[in-house]
Amino acid sequence: MNLIFLGPPGAGKGTLAAKAVEILKVPHISTGNIFRAAIAAQSPLGLKVKAIIDAGKLVDDETTIALVRERLAEPDVQTGYILDGFPRTIAQAEALASFSAVGKVVNFDIPDAAVVERLSGRRVCRKCGHNFHVLFDPPKGNICGLCGGEVYTRDDDSEEAIQKRLHVYREQTAPLIDYYRQKGLLLDVDARPAVGQVVENFKKAVSVQ
Ligand code: AP5
Repeated sequence: MNLIFLGPPGAGKGTLAAKAVEILKVPHISTGNIFRAAIAAQSPLGLKVKAIIDAGKLVDDETTIALVRERLAEPDVQTGYILDGFPRTIAQAEALASFSAVGKVVNFDIPDAAVVERLSGRRVCRKCGHNFHVLFDPPKGNICGLCGGEVYTRDDDSEEAIQKRLHVYREQTAPLIDYYRQKGLLLDVDARPAVGQVVENFKKAVSVQ
C-alpha cells in the first residue's frame, strides 16, 4: 500500500507513522527526517537546507523531488510505503505521479490551535526520533526513556517558525487536499483525539485491523 500522510505541521503525522509501520509493515519515509539527518551529518545537503528549515520555509522542489525519487527506487518500498511530508506542493505531487503510483492520501484533519499546542510542547529524541510532548507524552528530563538518547527541541519549533510553517502550509500544501480529493484518493482522518484513538481512526479509514 502506497500511502501519503498529508496535514499541517504538528498534526501528528510522524507519531501516527511510527504506529502505522507496525500495522502495515511498510517503511516510513519522512522528508523532514531525511533533511534533519543530513543537517546532523553536516553533509552538503544538510548545509544547503538548514537555514531554510529553521526559518520554517520549504526546501526547493527540485532538491526535494530528486531526493524522494532516489529513495523510492530502493528495494524496501516495493511492497509499499508511508510518505510523510511529501508532496507539499502541486509541483511535487505531479512529479510523484510520474514515478510512483499513489494509493491513498491520509488527510490529517485538525485545527490550527491544536497544532500550535502540539508543536510548542514537542520534544524529540535525537537517537530514536520518538516524538514526546511536555503534556501528552512527557519525557523524563532530557533523556529518552525508550533508548537513552538526548531529548531536544527542534529549531523550527520556535514560535516564529511555527507561524511561518502554518502560513506556508495554507499557501502551498493545503491545495493538495482538493487536488487529491478530486482524484478520489483522499481519506480524511480526525487527528484531534489522543494517539490511540487517532490510530483507530486511521485503521478504519484504510480498512485494516
Ligand atoms: P517535517 O519534519 O515534515 O515537519 P512538519 O510537516 O512541519 O511536521 P512535523 O514533523 O512538525 O509534525 P508531525 O505532523 O509529524 O507531528 P508529530 O507527530 O511530530 O518537515 C520539516 C521541514 O523540512 C519543513 O518545514 C521544510 O522546511 C522541510 N521539508 C520537509 N518536507 C519537505 C517537502 N516535501 N518540500 C519542501 N520542504 C520540505 O507530533 C507533534 C507533537 O504532537 C509531538 O509532540 C507529539 O508527541 C504530539 N502528538 C502527536 N499526536 C498527538 C495526539 N494524537 N494527541 C496529542 N499529542 C500528539
